[in-house]
Order: sequence, then structure tokens, then C-alpha cells
Amino acid sequence: MQVYVYRNEEQVAQAAAMIFAAELAAKPNLVLGLATGTTPIPTYQRLIALNRDGLIDFSQARSYNLDEYVGLEPGHPASYRYFMNVKLFDHINIDKANTHVPSGLGDVKKNADAYDAAIEEAGGIDLQLLGIGHNGHIGFNEPNPRAFIYKTNVVTLTPSTIQANARLFDKEADVPRQAISLGIGGIMNARRVILLATGRGKAQAVRDAVKGDITPLLPASILKAHRNAQFLLDEEAASLL
Ligand code: PGA
Repeated sequence: MQVYVYRNEEQVAQAAAMIFAAELAAKPNLVLGLATGTTPIPTYQRLIALNRDGLIDFSQARSYNLDEYVGLEPGHPASYRYFMNVKLFDHINIDKANTHVPSGLGDVKKNADAYDAAIEEAGGIDLQLLGIGHNGHIGFNEPNPRAFIYKTNVVTLTPSTIQANARLFDKEADVPRQAISLGIGGIMNARRVILLATGRGKAQAVRDAVKGDITPLLPASILKAHRNAQFLLDEEAASLL
């Protein structure tokens, strides 16, 4: 992995948006792996502006999101499908039919298998955008001895993730306890990975991922074994390196 440090989150977003622009220019039908959370929002805002100005074209792009809560309808304001529509898809020229978020409804195990098959059918993910959890998770692959599970799977969220995400719900008790998440295999198979981390709160997880051993107890550490992964950090997130 390579590590790049920028002054602030605006510069991180600018760098990430430029990578999207370059990759899409080289391959208009790029398969994007997209992420939710607070971190990618400034990047999505830049992508929207670039698209509005005609500098980036999503008309042939396809996208697969990392994860979704189990049990939330796509129209639920805390669902990741809703997030993606509101924060990005509604404002760019991507064909919504080409955007995919795993479904946490019905037979989730079957959905998980179908998701991996669909990504494979699409030719795999070209550019995977990631955030990092305070506990080092990527997607919803939470730290535990089995975190390096290859396939998309149903995962149980840790108390720290539930607490971190409670801000998006009326109350903590409303946060689903399970999610469907792209597996580590799907992430590691991506041709290029960019992980964004901003703010002091991510500094320890970033340090452990960059400097520590590769361990399922810090899932982002696996990216050290990826041949084309870049960490784009602001100074605060990089402050313990
Ligand atoms: P955040 O989440 O961007 O909201 O901090 C990142 C993550 O949990 O992967």
C-alpha cells in the first residue's frame, strides 16, 4: 500500500475525485466499488460538481456498494441505498439500473451469493473506495478471528460500530445488529483500492493498519497485501504514523 498525506479533508476529497476522473476517462464503463459513511461525502460532492461541469462522465459506469443493514427497506432514511441515492446517484448521470447495493431483505445468504456472482459477471471491481472504522473495519468486516472471510456475508456488528452509527438513527436501539457486507475477497480482488481516512478519531486504526501486522483483528491491515492500494489521509488521521 502507498500512503499519501494531505493537509485536510478537502484535499483528500480532491485527490480521490481526481483518481475517479482519471480511471473513468481511461475506462468509461468502470466498475466502481462505493462506500457510505461520513468520510466519502466530500469526495461525492466533488464528483457531483465535476459531473455537472462535464468533466466526468458516469453514463456507462457501474457500481457495487460495500454493504447494507439487514432488515432496512431501501427507502429507509438510514439505509445505504437511500444514502447513495441522496448523496451521489440522484445528482450524477449514472444509470440507476447500473447501481447496486446489497439487499438486507429476505434471504440474505442468497443475496450475498448473488452479489458476488453479479460482481464477477461485471468483470470484478476496478476501483474500490473505502473508509475505515474506528476499530479498523473495512466495509462491515468487523475485527474478529474470522474477519478475512472471502465471500460476501452476513456479519454481526460490534458495539463500537453500532455506537458510531447510532447518529444516523433516532436512537441506538434502532441500529440493526447485522449487516450484509462485501467480503474481504471482493475488496482484495479490486484492481485498485483507495482508502480515505480523515480526522483524529481514525489515527489509531490507520496506524495499526499501516504499521501493524496483517491480522483479522484489524481488517484494514489486509490492504498491505494488495498490489494497488493507496491510503489518502489528512494530517489528523496520519498523526500517529
Ligand atoms: P465513517 O465510517 O466514514 O462514517 O467514519 C467509515 C467506516 O466505518 O468505514
